[in-house]
Formats: sequence, C-alpha cells, structure tokens
Amino acid sequence: MSMRLPFFNHKKTKVKVNEASDFDNMPGHVAIIMDGNGRWAKKRGLPRIAGHKAGMDVVKQVTKTAANCHVETLTLYAFSTENWRRPKSEVDYLLGLPKEFLHTYLPELMGNNVRIETIGNLNVLPAHTKEAVAYAKEKTKDNDGLLLNFALNYGSRFEIIQAIRQIVTDVDNSRVTLDKLDEDVFSEYLYTTGLSDPDLLIRTSGEQRLSNFLLWQSAYSEFWFTDVLWPDFTEDMFRQALHDYQQRKRRYGGI
Ligand code: IPE
Ligand code: IPE
Ligand code: MG
Repeated sequence: MSMRLPFFNHKKTKVKVNEASDFDNMPGHVAIIMDGNGRWAKKRGLPRIAGHKAGMDVVKQVTKTAANCHVETLTLYAFSTENWRRPKSEVDYLLGLPKEFLHTYLPELMGNNVRIETIGNLNVLPAHTKEAVAYAKEKTKDNDGLLLNFALNYGSRFEIIQAIRQIVTDVDNSRVTLDKLDEDVFSEYLYTTGLSDPDLLIRTSGEQRLSNFLLWQSAYSEFWFTDVLWPDFTEDMFRQALHDYQQRKRRYGGI
C-alpha cells in the first residue's frame, strides 16, 4: 500500500505534494526531548512555569498529529531523573502537569483512540501524579490507536542499572542463565520492553545531546534537531521532521 501524504502540503514547508512519500516509510516510534520551556518563558519576562504550561498544549497538538500520521508510538520526555536538581517549586509544578494534562485532554485522547503508558521510576512520584497516570492507563488500556508514552522520572542509566539488578536476581533464581543473555533478552528488562526502538528522535531548543534519554534504545535512531523552543514547536515543524525522516537512508552498519 502506498499513499501520498497530503498532510505534507503546507505552504510554509518546502515539501511538494507529489514528492514520493508514503505512510509505509513513517517512523513507527518517534521520541521527543521537549526542551526550551524555561527559555521561552524568560524571553517573555514570564516565570519558567509559564513555559511548561505553554508546552503542555504543544504536547496535545503533537499527539494529534502523530496519530493522524499513523505513527505507532510517541515517547515524550517529560521529567528526567536529573530534573530533581531544579528548585522545589519548579519540580512540584512539573510533577503536577501530568494530572493537569490528563484532566484537560483525556476525553479528547480517548476520542482519538490513544493509549497512554509511561516509562520511568514512578514509585517515588507524588501520589496525585501516580494516581492520575494510573487512571489514564487503565481508562485507555483497550485503545488500539497511537501509544502515547510519557517518560516520567526517566533516566537511561538508572534504567540500565535496575535491569542489571533484576537480571542478577533472575540468574540467582535460575529464571535466566547468563549464556541466554543477549541484546533481546536484555531489552526485556528495560522500561521499554515490548516497544520497538525509536526510529526518529527529535530535540527542540538547539541543544544537541541526549540528556540520559533512551541511550540503549537510540543506538540506531535518526536524530532531528531544531533551534525552536518547545512551546513554539508547531504541527508543520513536526510534519517536516517526519518528512525529513522519510528521506533518510538507514544502513545499520551495512552498505
Ligand atoms: C523542558 O524545558 C522541560 C523539562 C525539562 C521538564 P526546560 O525547563 O528544560 O527549558 P530550558 O531548557 O531551561 O529552556
Ligand atoms: C531534558 O531536558 C529533560 C526533559 C526534556 C524532560 P533538560 O533541560 O533537563 O536537559 P539538560 O539539562 O539541558 O541536558
Ligand atoms: Mg532544558
């Protein structure tokens, strides 16, 4: 099946309608480091949390676009294991956002057949955050459209360490043997078990680093960077990133 992508025909993009593109070449899994909320607010003389609030609406828009573009999984970096280093007031605000986001948008996400999941260490999050997330997961668990996956209190290094701890325990209990431990088995011990690796990894705000996001999983991801700050990231820009991905040649070490 080959369908042309009418949604790439935007005035602001360079993309021509009849350029060869089809849904088959869509990235199955897109991961986004949503960065630049603080700088966006600062530029406007606003408190940093105003940037986080503005960023929330962009999450909704990008989710909708991903669903329309037949992306299967969208993983959004919402809070890193290093973000605890921020002032308590900002941390509290950030950890309140999942509840606010879900309160505002869950009905619409349900209407769009979106399933919600998370990766990260939720145990230590405030009860209201855990409850809001648990409710949304339960409510959307039978939806079979886009998987919207929030990385919440996520850090790759912690993820890898907890995987190793679990593997050692399982070896001790003879649930797994070391000679059976290969890349696929190891992947099953990560938060992302069952998910394909991200095909496309986007970062906004001009920074070109991973910041402890999906280190193992992004071994062969295609990267796409923009200087645009997350609250200014538009549907057209996202479509442009998807289109650019479609032009990439992935070789995985081959020729
Ligand atoms: C991204 O924006 C949101 C989170 C990290 C939670 P920032 O808050 O990092 O914004 P900048 O990078 O300081 O501009
Ligand atoms: C990465 O952004 C984390 C999230 C987007 C949640 P940061 O703003 O925390 O990353 P650094 O500190 O610039 O590397
Ligand atoms: Mg930042």
